[in-house]
Amino acid sequence: LIPTRADCLALDAADPLAFARERFALPDGVIYLDGNSLGPLPKATTERLRRTVEQEWGQGLIRSWNEADWINAPLRLGAKIARLIGARPHEVLVADSTSVNLYKLASAAAALRPERSVILTEPGNFPTELYILQGIAEQLGHKLRVRTVARDALKDALDAEVAVLVLTHVHYKSGEVHDMAALTARAHEVGALTVWDLSHSTGALPVELNAAGADFAVGCGYKYLNGGPGAPAFLYVAERWAEAARSPLSGWMGHAAPFEFVDDYRPASGVARMLCGTPSILAMAALEAGLATFDEVDMAQVRAKSAALSELFIALVEARLPGVFELASPREPALRGSQVSLAHPHGYAIMSALIETGVIGDFRAPDILRFGFTPLYTRHVDVFDAVERLDAVMADRRFEHPRYAERAAVT
Ligand SMILES: Cc1ncc(COP(=O)(O)O)c(C=O)c1O
Repeated sequence: LIPTRADCLALDAADPLAFARERFALPDGVIYLDGNSLGPLPKATTERLRRTVEQEWGQGLIRSWNEADWINAPLRLGAKIARLIGARPHEVLVADSTSVNLYKLASAAAALRPERSVILTEPGNFPTELYILQGIAEQLGHKLRVRTVARDALKDALDAEVAVLVLTHVHYKSGEVHDMAALTARAHEVGALTVWDLSHSTGALPVELNAAGADFAVGCGYKYLNGGPGAPAFLYVAERWAEAARSPLSGWMGHAAPFEFVDDYRPASGVARMLCGTPSILAMAALEAGLATFDEVDMAQVRAKSAALSELFIALVEARLPGVFELASPREPALRGSQVSLAHPHGYAIMSALIETGVIGDFRAPDILRFGFTPLYTRHVDVFDAVERLDAVMADRRFEHPRYAERAAVT
């Protein structure tokens, strides 16, 4: 039975996460299905930034490094993210971008396995993973090489040559979820270490780094965490590696005593050694307000609602537009992150036309329309209305107008 709009409204009325939508300043008339790429503005962020700018910076000036506790922002925010990723508070740090954190941790992990020659990953991984790993190999004079193996064959490809396995937990394009616990266990059996990119997982589904025995992880602050465009990223170092792992970017902020200004580098104890330079405090303030959108939020409920929204979307698309799109995400909700991808040869033009109707998703080359279902603010009725507008875009074939085919710089 295909759900009606009234069914969707009833589901929203019974939604235990409905309270969280009030935390966001969503524009009128827009159905935002792209929080997996850039989280929307939380209402509290504007006031928090005003306070940080006008009071802490404007009035407090440099005193605020101590008085407003700016100096501890990377660890304080890390401890808040820890709850969302199944880590201990002292294992997580907010710093830099995901790419830079990946560079730091993949390098550190490889250095812990100096006798080994392979960094293992999968083809079609998010480009920054592949590019950063290629850069590390080049820098080490190709003593390490990057080996890409299709996801089904990864378990068998783990052997005694592999220093580090680097994977994205939820695939950016298909939304496919890796079995983190099983792959980490297999990596450890052969003596390899793991680095997980949690960019599309954190805040989207429960992640259990400690339970999985994960060694290292990185993730993004501007997607499900709602930290704002270009928000700082985070990194995780399992407690057992905290005193052994060394950052290749041995900047002063990761020094054991930065304000002693000594000549020789000595890493800080714990995850703080993965800091490099001075953190952007304005960006940290926005991220902290973004993290507060998860206060009192139960990640099990987030996962349940995410599955319900994405199941609803697939059911409605297949009922109203049979055979029009190919489902490019796993059909089984347990194997999907919080997004649904549809393939269509005119994907870019269709998404452009759909955005014009106020339904915002995105496009990933060559042919993927990506729809993110972020349970904190997306309602069942939004999914219903979004499919109705998609149906309208397909019905009159307006997407065939040449103006929809002109590619913008960012898709
Ligand atoms: C899997 C993955 N890793 C990393 C990033 C972004 O990295 P950065 O913060 O360096 O821009 C993205 C962004 O879309 C991503 O999807």
